Amino acid sequence: MGEIYDVAVIGAGPGGYVAAIRCAQLGLKTLCIDAWTNAAGKPALGGTCLNVGCIPSKALLESSEQYAHLQQGIGEHGITVKETRLDIGRMLARKDKIVDKSTAGIAFLFRKNKVDAKAGIGRFVRAGESCVLEVVNGAEREEITARFVIIATGSVPVLLPLFPVDGEHIVDNAGALVFQEPPKRLGIIGAGIIGLELGSVWHRLGSAVTLFDARENFLATADTQVAAEAWKHFTKEQGLTIKLGARPTAKKIGKAGLSLDYEDAQGAQRYECDKLLVAAGRVPNTTGLNAEAVGLKRDQRGFIEVDAHCRTVLPNVYAIGDCVRGPMLAHKASEEGLAVAERIAGQKPEVNYATIPSVIYTAPEIAWVGQTEQALKTAGTAFRKGVFWFMANGRAQALGETHGFVKVLADDRTDRILGVHMIGPRVSELLGEAVVAMEFAAAAEDLARIVHAHPTLSEALHEAALAALGRPLHQ
Ligand code: FAD
Ligand code: NAI
Repeated sequence: MGEIYDVAVIGAGPGGYVAAIRCAQLGLKTLCIDAWTNAAGKPALGGTCLNVGCIPSKALLESSEQYAHLQQGIGEHGITVKETRLDIGRMLARKDKIVDKSTAGIAFLFRKNKVDAKAGIGRFVRAGESCVLEVVNGAEREEITARFVIIATGSVPVLLPLFPVDGEHIVDNAGALVFQEPPKRLGIIGAGIIGLELGSVWHRLGSAVTLFDARENFLATADTQVAAEAWKHFTKEQGLTIKLGARPTAKKIGKAGLSLDYEDAQGAQRYECDKLLVAAGRVPNTTGLNAEAVGLKRDQRGFIEVDAHCRTVLPNVYAIGDCVRGPMLAHKASEEGLAVAERIAGQKPEVNYATIPSVIYTAPEIAWVGQTEQALKTAGTAFRKGVFWFMANGRAQALGETHGFVKVLADDRTDRILGVHMIGPRVSELLGEAVVAMEFAAAAEDLARIVHAHPTLSEALHEAALAALGRPLHQ
């Protein structure tokens, strides 16, 4: 029968590992099963996020931004740098070190909290009052029993049959994090978040980057005013080429690289590049679980069906993170993990899906929480808006990063904040205040009456709240 656990978590990404730690903290005997292996073939905890997602991409975004700043932004400070040289090997090694440290950190936290970890693929054998799972690791197979199971198997990149990832000419996000030199010409299918973040990295390091997106509207989930501002910066100021309404239809790989056929409003076109990144979305990773055999339900796209509390149709099986409905974000996965652990322990936590923050780590950064202006208009909600541009913010001027704005949307009648949208310097950090405000059901007046330190970027949020009340001070 193998070992008996209170909880078995399948997957050690930000959903699974957080759920496992919280379960153990609550006194539950917990196992976390994870299949990830790193380039050295060793098990590595942390899932997509730590291994090939959030953490390595942010490491390279930071390195490439520093490089771009030395080349373009440092002169105005009166600093002349004679020679800027790129050592890609060292840059990649720095990123790998950060990843290794982070994944080792999870292993440490597991030991500290007494979470058992098993490397291997976990799948259901039987479900019932307890669930029996098998863990397969190479030739080894082991059965374990658990009173509760949390599925946290995450997601994988969408595969485009016409553009199969070969790791050489065509790559996915993992491949685009290990280019040994900047490709001369990098094509990207998908001008979404991964396309823009990784496109920015390689563009700053010297690649000519062209993104192709089937959609006509750029950054469709963002506020349209933010998307328009982002478009201006990425295309006109930074020189990314972004082709909208463009559908890649075929490719040919030759000695000189890869030629990509696509169709757009002008008809059939051809584009030549050295590497092609497929970043066309992600799909839940739920095929290997033997889910249906034990009565679990998956929807048409493969997401495990759950209710608002991440409960599946089986009373002792929960599912969280990228493998269930909702935004595919690490912090959403983690919050669901916490909530499910506490629910199993008999508590009644809630995840507030209305205040999940979104951030795109380009330069300028893009960050938002709550509803967009276009969504409010469609819903017929009467609202007031306040916009404050970083151009008029003292700290932004000192930083030399005056692009973008903060926008506060408030209910016209109650003044309650309905959405906050930002594009500009370090807005990923600025967004936290807006999330707290919305979580506490704050009004624009509340933000406007909070003392903000001077000079800080946060004053832009203060001013946007004042503007939503019709009384801006500095514009
Ligand atoms: P995952 O992190 O995908 O982890 C799932 C784990 O389960 C994996 O280790 C997998 O190997 C394992 N697994 C799967 N099936 C089995 C099985 N049967 N048995 C055992 N183990 C199994 N989100 C953000 O919030 N911020 C960001 O900045 C950000 N940047 C990103 C950048 C990139 C390039 C990518 C690709 C994603 C990024 N994301 C970001 C999204 C984020 O990585 C995911 O939302 C997050 O990792 C989801 O967490 P998860 O725990 O649900 O799944
Ligand atoms: P995405 O959904 O953001 O963008 C995919 C884009 O590809 C869309 O604009 C879509 O129109 C386009 N597309 C799809 N099929 C296409 C085709 N055949 N031809 C042309 N265009 C096509 O997905 P992406 O960028 O792959 O990222 C996946 C998810 O990972 C994100 O949705 C997000 O949840 C998460 N992520 C989060 C980050 C963050 O929080 N900063 C960073 C990176 C990823």
